[in-house]
Parts: sequence; C-alpha cells; structure tokens
Amino acid sequence: MSAPYEYEADALIAEDIDAYLEQQREKSLLRFITCGSVDDGKSTLIGRLLYDSKMIFEDQLATLEADSKRVGTQGQAIDFALLVDGLAAEREQGITIDVAYRFFSTPKRKFIVADTPGHEQYTRNMVTGASTADLAVILIDARKGVLTQTRRHSYLAHLIGIRNIVLAVNKMDLVDYDQAVFDRILLSYRAFATGIGITGFAAIPISGIAGDNITTRSERTPWYAGPTLMEHLEAVEIDVDAARSRPFRLPVQWVNRPNLDFRGFSGLIATGEVRPGDPVRVLPSGKTSTVTRIVTMPGAGTASGAGGEGDLDKAVAGQSVTLTFADEIDCSRGDVITVAEEPPQVADQFEATIVWMAEAEMLPGRPYWLKLGTQSVTATVQSPKYQVDVNSMEHLAAKTLGLNAIGVANLSTDRPLVFEPYADSRALGGFILIDKLTNATVAAGMLHFSLRRSQNVHWQATDTSREKRADLKNQKPAVLWFTGLSGAGKSTIANLVERKLTRMNRHAFLLDGDNVRHGLNKDLGFTDADRVENIRRVGEVARLMTDAGLIVITAFISPFRAEREMVRAMMEPGEFIEVHVDTSLEEAEKRDVKGLYKKARSGQLKNFTGIDSPYEVPLDPEIRIDTTALSPQQAADAIVARLLGDDA
Ligand code: ADX
Repeated sequence: MSAPYEYEADALIAEDIDAYLEQQREKSLLRFITCGSVDDGKSTLIGRLLYDSKMIFEDQLATLEADSKRVGTQGQAIDFALLVDGLAAEREQGITIDVAYRFFSTPKRKFIVADTPGHEQYTRNMVTGASTADLAVILIDARKGVLTQTRRHSYLAHLIGIRNIVLAVNKMDLVDYDQAVFDRILLSYRAFATGIGITGFAAIPISGIAGDNITTRSERTPWYAGPTLMEHLEAVEIDVDAARSRPFRLPVQWVNRPNLDFRGFSGLIATGEVRPGDPVRVLPSGKTSTVTRIVTMPGAGTASGAGGEGDLDKAVAGQSVTLTFADEIDCSRGDVITVAEEPPQVADQFEATIVWMAEAEMLPGRPYWLKLGTQSVTATVQSPKYQVDVNSMEHLAAKTLGLNAIGVANLSTDRPLVFEPYADSRALGGFILIDKLTNATVAAGMLHFSLRRSQNVHWQATDTSREKRADLKNQKPAVLWFTGLSGAGKSTIANLVERKLTRMNRHAFLLDGDNVRHGLNKDLGFTDADRVENIRRVGEVARLMTDAGLIVITAFISPFRAEREMVRAMMEPGEFIEVHVDTSLEEAEKRDVKGLYKKARSGQLKNFTGIDSPYEVPLDPEIRIDTTALSPQQAADAIVARLLGDDA
C-alpha cells in the first residue's frame, strides 16, 4: 500500500538519525487544533494526516490494518478513525483536562495537533488545547452545514486568539462533490464569522475518507482552485512570525548567577527582537539600562562568564536567552524586560474574559493565585458582568461562573502586573487562576484592558501613622478572629473578651456576624459566594480598625480557610490571632440556642453551616477553645491572657 504523498524525510530516520533531527530542528512548528465531533470525521481526518505524513510507526500500521478489517467501517480499506480513537483510549486515566497532542512532520514543517473533544461539556479541554495553537481546523459535515457546535468552536477559537481559521468542509463525497453545497456553507459561515469578529478564514472542500484535498488535489473538485489542507498547513503564516514584529518583551524566568562576575536574566522572548546595545526597561520598577550581551545557554554557565561561543548578535521571539545589562539594576523572576521606549502597561485592576474550568464554581472575592507568564500574584474576581452563552453568543446575567462557563468580569491583584491586552499579546495577556488550597488550575483568562479607575485612584499619604494612633491608645493593635459553627459560643465569649479588655482600659471593638448582617452586609445571604464577600468586607473593616489602633474582635462563622487566610495576610505579621471556638456539631445542635439547627434539619433553612454547607476547621489556629472543657468566662480569661501576655 502506498500513501498518496511520499516524503523523502522518512528515509532519513533510518539512514542518518542525526541529520534527520537536525532537519527537524530547523523546520518551523505549527500548532493547531481540530474542532468537531467524531461524527464530523475528525478522527478520520487526523488519522489521514498522520498516515500520509508517514508518522505512524510500522507496528501501529499493522494493527491498524488488521483492526480496520475486523471492526472498521470502511470494508477492506484502512479506517483512520481507529488510529486516533485507539491512541485516545491509552490516555484516558488520570488526566483532569484531557487533550491529546500528536506530532507529525513534512519536509516543510513540523506540526503538533491538539485533538479536543467537541461537546459543550469539554469546553475547558478545547480552551486548553487552543491556548497554544496558531490555527484551528473547524470541521463541517457537508450534509449538515453550519451547526451550533460549528459556531461554538469558532467562537472559542477566536476568543482564545487563534487568527488562522480553516473551515474544512468534510464528507464532500457524500454530496457528490457539489460546488453549490460548498458555496452555500461558505456563505452562511461567513455571515456568522464576520458577526463575531473573525476577519478571514480559508475554506477547503475535503473528504477524509476518500482523501480528497487533504494531501493530494482532488480531481473530483475541479471547481476548487485553492490549496490542499496539507499545503495550507505548510504555508500559513504562524504566530511566532507575527510576534517578531511586535515590541521587545522578555518575561524573566530566573536570574542566572553562576559566579560573582556574571549576572544574567533568563527567559523566553515573548515578542520582538533584541540586540546588544539596545536600551531596555525593567518593569514594574521602570529602571532602565542597556543590553551588553545576549548569551545562549552553554555560554551563560562558563566559569569566566566571558565565553564568546554562546553570544548572539540578535535574538528574536521564541528564543530562550540570557541577557546581561550595563548597569546593576534590580531585576528578578516575574519582571519583564522590554524595549525602553515602548513599554507594556502596569496595572492592578482589569477587565477580563474568564473560562471557568473547575467543578466548584467561582467565588467572587476569594483570593486565587493568578499566573501570567512568569508573574505570580494574588487576584480576586468580582461578580461577572455577564456570562456568554457559547452556543448563541448571547450575554446572560450571572452571579458566578460554573464549570465550562465563560464570562466577563473585573478583577484586581494584590501587586501590579506587567501586561498587554490579550488581543495584542497572548504571552502578556493570558493568565490562569489557581486555587490556593488545592493548587488546581480553576480558570483560564484573557485580559482586555486595565480599569482606568486603577490609574486614577492613588494612595493618599496621611501624616498620622498607625503607630502614632496605637501609641495614643497605649496598646498594640490586634485582631482576635473567632471562627466556629453557629451556636459554638463565639459571640458569647467574644462579648466577654471585649468587656474584659474595656475594663482594662484597652480600646477594643467587637464586630459580630449577626449584627454586621443588619447593616453593612445586609445585602448578603448564605451562599458560598456571599459568605466570601461577608468575610472580605469584615476583613477590610478590621484592617481599618487596626490602622486606627484598635483591638478588633470578630465573631463570624467564617467557614472557609481561604478567606481566613486572606484576612490574616491583610494584617501586620503577628497581628492576626485566629481563635477556633471548637464546639462539635452534635454539641452545637444540642444547644440550638436560636432554633436554627432544627429549622435546617427540617429543610426550612437552606445552606446551613454544618448541615448542608461546609465548615473548614482551622488547621493551626493560635488559640483553640474547647467549650465543653472551659466555661465562657474561663475561655475569655485565657484569650485575654494570650493576647496581652505579661501586660495582662
Ligand atoms: S458567615 O458564614 O458568613 O461567616 P456569619 O457569622 O456572618 O456567617 O452569620 C452567621 C449567623 O447567621 C449564624 O450565627 C446564624 O445566627 C445566622 N444564620 C442564618 N442563616 C444561616 C445559615 N444558612 N448558615 C449559617 N448561619 C446562618
């Protein structure tokens, strides 16, 4: 059996592996995704690309032929779909976000194809696969035309910044290679695509099964004058080329300091190009210097640090290099080295599109790690402005985002980010969100722009310091953060602590859950999201009160570790004292002072902590009070003693 498209390169693998690898290294790499469902013939198409480029190993080929005859749908011919689906089965265990990547190459180019499932419940898989792709092949069944899923895939591909879209109108054999069918599909797709901002796309009539216009031009489509799919993939301009024409940006991955004489800054050039002598700026600090050397990896580690072998006179986007500067300026991991005159923006508040990828829904106000390139900060997302229906592109009202939901929201970070809008730079505009406790990636996002208010609202310095305010009160500010189940005894003990401190002429203030919910937080209920917001606001108020020099006592269930840790991080070191009022659920329920447990058990009260809403026990609180062993009075004494130490 012979493939319709023979490649010389394959012979090289056997004859001269070094020459083959060298040849591979110099070829450009195109990453693409295929979108469509099995019904559209996606597996068959990928199988044929792999087969025709001879990237199937001999033993796989033998199995394939045997399997095709046994279970294939194509009679005696090879069923290419078996190849792809068979490979897929191998990877099925243990991968959360399952994307199959396959490699193949032709004499002109190397390819990595990400094969992502097509259904809506796999939106996150598609986004993951698309995030590094230069091109998307959108498969259409010629008999069915543009479907909801075609629109969804196109929208996602466009959203993720893929500029090259190929509409592969498949199964042309089943519509008699009729040009009118192809033209109609083209027309209807163009109308849709223009509407969502896709400015151009290529359309190719193909048949994955019959092999038309995939690697060989088909005689059955004489009316089609364009390239085959493979020719198109080999020739299309890829993002790396486009990235080179943008201003120079290098996110610093690490500081390379093999000895005292050498200090270089290493990373992958995201966009643009750099030469020795170029003036550069380091962000966010804004310090400037001049590039003295561009060192590639071997030269950077030499003992002298002066070895010339690894030095380049120019480096471009896509290369990993180490730069040295003429001046000793601060520069560390997460900083971005950029051309001096055209730097990217620095901001801490943004509008962004967010694709939610976790089972647990997004909690507006919860701190997540945000990673953007080599930068890592803490970010909180506000309630979405809207969610996008990925099938109709309609904007829907939403309070949060669930698995696979896509929405637009504002977010803020605890430190400034060096960024560019995602539309200009995927490297400096794309980010992921990570859950701080589980370390799982929960979202992918794309920055639109920084909020002007973050540029126009500055921190106003005031003359009276927090130290002075505390001195006046003759005390050290602190936060006694009570946490525990409803009815655990938080309010009772906190009240005694406040009374005791006041009697000792300390300036204390008790913020109590039920009370604050009558005023400041009366708009909040008991969903996870509302509890997060409840604690965020109370945390901010507590911080203001410590600035005022007060000893703040708070009594909130505060069921989530993440928010308790967030408030801890807002305070000065040592200022936050977590007090776990440790009463078991059985005990709290037995007391049931407010009758709420009874209501919750009978279903009259939803989302009740401990019943149908979680309580995350503190792992390492400063103080733990066992209310079955201590009276409220004894508990209060112990807490005050711990707070004031020898001053008590
Ligand atoms: S928190 O979870 O957001 O920290 P908070 O301490 O402010 O809760 O409020 C808890 C108080 O609200 C409880 O002591 C109880 O009196 C009342 N409450 C009403 N509904 C609920 C509920 N579903 N879950 C817990 N507490 C509730």
